Amino acid sequence: MMTTKTLSPHAFQEETFTASMETPQALASPIIIDGGKVVLQSQVVLAPMAGVTDIVFRGLVRKTAPQSLICTEMISSNSLVYSKRWDAHILKKTSEDNPIAYQLAAHQEEIIAAAAVTICEKHQPNMLDINMGCPVKKITGNFEGCALMRDLELASRLIKAVSSSVDVPVSVKFRLGWDDNSKNYIEFGQMAQESGAKLVTLHTRTRSQGYKPGVDWEAAGKLKAALRIPVIANGDIVTPADAKFMVDTYQVDGVMIGRGTQGEPWRIALIDHYLKTGELLPEPTLVQRLAYAWQHVQGMVAYKGEAQGVREMRGQLPWYVKGFAGAPAYRAKLTQVETVAEVEALFVEILESLT
Ligand SMILES: Cc1cc2nc3c(=O)[nH]c(=O)nc-3n(C[C@H](O)[C@H](O)[C@H](O)COP(=O)(O)O)c2cc1C
Repeated sequence: MMTTKTLSPHAFQEETFTASMETPQALASPIIIDGGKVVLQSQVVLAPMAGVTDIVFRGLVRKTAPQSLICTEMISSNSLVYSKRWDAHILKKTSEDNPIAYQLAAHQEEIIAAAAVTICEKHQPNMLDINMGCPVKKITGNFEGCALMRDLELASRLIKAVSSSVDVPVSVKFRLGWDDNSKNYIEFGQMAQESGAKLVTLHTRTRSQGYKPGVDWEAAGKLKAALRIPVIANGDIVTPADAKFMVDTYQVDGVMIGRGTQGEPWRIALIDHYLKTGELLPEPTLVQRLAYAWQHVQGMVAYKGEAQGVREMRGQLPWYVKGFAGAPAYRAKLTQVETVAEVEALFVEILESLT
């Protein structure tokens, strides 16, 4: 981490992080989806994360990863179709936010089809993804998310309903299975492919594992060997070396990164650069981390207003602040902030403490 003696405590307001990734390279073998309707020039995908991958965070990721497929937060088809008071901010995207997959959750064919059509008409996504992996009880209790891994017929009908309603390629994200006794990911992936999915992502855990340690990366290789469509591996892939291991060892088409990007929106680009060139770019300095955090706050405030924007950043700001003595105390303080001025004062204090 950078701690130079000449550091201005306001340096985070000027600094940016673009590293040497301004001219991104093409892939030797691009990922061809649905006969070329979508062609990906990056093997690194940003995971859908509710409460994280909103328009602001995606914009930060895009600064250094213009070629990567990025997923929205999960969108409830039911809310989109029926709820008049539903907050449609989740659907917004900028014109630079491509390639993008909008992710839908649903358990009824006609509703997911209606949601898919609305999204395609209003927002022109490159792809639509169906969530069949969410382990949260509120979702599975509604026969959505990972509950669909226990009802292949319904899952198939949902995929067919979306595929036949829109022109964009449809993908499906799922887990190894419901629990250790029902790991049906191969059968499920084959069902998805036969039902019209043009890409699948495997989160290499079961529903009952939640987010506990113990991913089965080899399963992604087995799924790849069993399918014709591209397979993206997901689950605890964080470093460039992890990603390279997955691609080289299991021949998966790409990797999806989730929590590794929290407080590190540049991580997708670092991994992409490594996979393409073998070169490990330096991790950002503390000033650059704070610069990103500052831009994140500014974006959220512009998007949601100061009160709500800063409140929502309380969960995200601490991720940016690490790697120096005293960081835990600052992380705790950042979970209490109410205003942009408080964030600014804490960032200045951090940099002053290091000079
Ligand atoms: C805060 C959070 C929100 C998430 N929201 C979604 C979601 O909306 N849709 C989805 O398919 N997965 C969601 N996930 C799961 C991630 O997409 C990913 O599968 C999981 O975190 C494992 O990848 P990782 O180890 O790289 O984080 C979420 C995960 C987290 C941590």
